[in-house]
Amino acid sequence: MTFLYKADPARGEIWARLFAQRAPELAFRVWPDVGDPASVRYLAAWQPPEDPVRTLPNLEIIFSVGAGVDQFDFTGIPRHIPVVRMMEPGIVEGMIEYVCQGVLSLHRDLFDYAHQQQQQVWRERPLRPASACRVGVLGLGMLGTAVLERLRLFGFDCAGWSRSPHTLEGVTCYAGAVQLDAFLARTDVLICLLPLTAATQGILDASLLGKLPRGASLIQTGRGAHLRQDDLLRLLDAGHLRYALLDVTDPEPLPPGHPLWAHPRVRITPHIASATRPETAVEAVIDNLARHRAGLPMIGEIDRELGY
Ligand code: NDP
Ligand code: OXD
Repeated sequence: MTFLYKADPARGEIWARLFAQRAPELAFRVWPDVGDPASVRYLAAWQPPEDPVRTLPNLEIIFSVGAGVDQFDFTGIPRHIPVVRMMEPGIVEGMIEYVCQGVLSLHRDLFDYAHQQQQQVWRERPLRPASACRVGVLGLGMLGTAVLERLRLFGFDCAGWSRSPHTLEGVTCYAGAVQLDAFLARTDVLICLLPLTAATQGILDASLLGKLPRGASLIQTGRGAHLRQDDLLRLLDAGHLRYALLDVTDPEPLPPGHPLWAHPRVRITPHIASATRPETAVEAVIDNLARHRAGLPMIGEIDRELGY
């Protein structure tokens, strides 16, 4: 039986070494070295091959090597094949670090001080307590919840918004379209950790961002297609928004000369907020294989109707 890996080959080598230790009964191969296609039962991919079932006729499970699955073309994946997204502690830790540095940089005016340094200006800005900074996270899943739990420890005034109601200690939780405006009205730093689905495509538009208080900032760590980039630029130029820290853009890479690159109140990183860590990811996959063999539900199996 073969476990096929189809993503970054350098990471694939680490997966191969870990699989050899942890699951030696499986032949581990890295795309395009498929071997006998009929022996491939499991696939871990950032993007599955086109028409995966014709290519790999005995495929039983598809694992996403990422937390998101929006990059998959589901039309070629029959419903009897479960699709499992990546839920593992490494990707969570990376996202906590990224979002916390973003919120702290905004809260402690580090982006303004960077501008001041360029002008050789030595000028103190008022220090405010973390409790005066209202942070709001769109998405209360694996990542949004973990990020809020850590931000709460700094003393930020924390809230989150999700599709279905949640309860989180020390976090004001909002749910559904009816509570979105109230969530936005109390949010100084908005963080997007939603999956990209038909329901969330373009959600960060002028209407939504315009409901944030004047001077609010955005940390965009979801997917590029959540954000209407022209709307963001307009709201920054109008002074409604203060800063935007973008880890994801549409398209990626952001083309040279795009107005976001040079905007003085936009900070861009190249989709590095977090990434699956092979050591913990392989453990999660092997654990799921054992669950599957035991007839138990796998952790991270996505709901095809919801798209996440
Ligand atoms: P989860 O599936 O665990 O959580 C998704 C959350 O979003 C849930 O709380 C869900 O609500 C909520 N949600 C989904 N659709 C809607 C909607 N229409 N309205 C309101 N809330 C909604 O995802 P993760 O936390 O694991 O990951 C989130 C996303 O982060 C990924 O899909 C990916 O796009 C992005 N990501 C980015 C990375 C980067 O490096 N930039 C790295 C890893 C992930 P409910 O709880 O009610 O179901
Ligand atoms: C992911 C990502 O979804 O890296 O895991 O963006």
